[in-house]
Amino acid sequence: MKEGKASFSAEIIAAMRALESRRPEHLRICHDPYARHLIRSRFRKFAQNKFITKLIYWYVERKGPGLPAGIAARTRYIDDIVKLEVDNGAQQLVIMGAGLDMRTFRLEELRNVHVFEVDFPATQELKKQKLTEIELPERSKLSYVPVDFNKDNLGEKLTDAGYDPKLKTLFIWEGVTMYLDAESVNRTLAFVASNTGKGSTLYFDYLMQSVLDGSCKYPEATAVRKTKSFNSDGVEKYTFGIDDTGIESFLSSRGFKLLEHMTGESLKTRYFFGENSSRYVFRICGFVHAEVARELEKP
Ligand SMILES: C[S@@+](CC[C@H](N)C(=O)[O-])C[C@H]1O[C@@H](n2cnc3c(N)ncnc32)[C@H](O)[C@@H]1O
Repeated sequence: MKEGKASFSAEIIAAMRALESRRPEHLRICHDPYARHLIRSRFRKFAQNKFITKLIYWYVERKGPGLPAGIAARTRYIDDIVKLEVDNGAQQLVIMGAGLDMRTFRLEELRNVHVFEVDFPATQELKKQKLTEIELPERSKLSYVPVDFNKDNLGEKLTDAGYDPKLKTLFIWEGVTMYLDAESVNRTLAFVASNTGKGSTLYFDYLMQSVLDGSCKYPEATAVRKTKSFNSDGVEKYTFGIDDTGIESFLSSRGFKLLEHMTGESLKTRYFFGENSSRYVFRICGFVHAEVARELEKP
């Protein structure tokens, strides 16, 4: 990320959610009624015309095969985790690299949960400014925490914002780890592993190492390697990945127990039926729900 420059990828993800939310209710995988208000007006106008929407799908599928369905499924999967964990007693939600994620307002379940939206300062400023332009439900327990994961101390910033390390908390890190360096990922995970109440959990996704090293031959891997994210002057570069078959040892060596590991294929099996069966879900990421291991929890 570049100092003072908001994330463009955050807008792309919001645009994917806006597209998905335009699908008929029985066909959409996730629903974010706010997303279309957050994307630049040029994109918004495009999405109002059925023919142009089809053209956009065609274009996006060419640039990133399986991206629209993959982003929709990822959003849905995380929504399900949030609902499950709040039901199981989570009192805090930390959304790391929140971008234009609107869960805080979309999910009624979060009404009484203290939500901390953590993000790169310039992206967060952009979001806050966009939010002044739309009508939103009241959320009294929402704290914005500007953080650069590569530079700042997440713990200090969260504590200043009122984070309580004794409470059961859910951390979500959606579409972020791939843009960080390994040291920042490890530092953040170390904070979560040792500063959370009993039963706390974490969701994150990661890019498969084989995509970074070039050995993955899926069409979406080949396509993504041609994008700016792989280009030396790209602002949001893919810099971090996890070994394709190494998630359990990655987690256990960092103080976490795997609860569930999903792939593009398993998301497709879980969420895509009937008319949706033919949709292609990208297979270059892993999606992880993990629990802070007991021996590292505070009494
Ligand atoms: C692809 S967007 C995902 C946004 C959001 N999680 C979502 O799914 O809609 C990546 C997010 O990571 C954030 N990000 C990237 N590098 C960061 C860093 N070094 N520190 C803090 N946030 C960062 C960006 O600001 C952006 O919001």
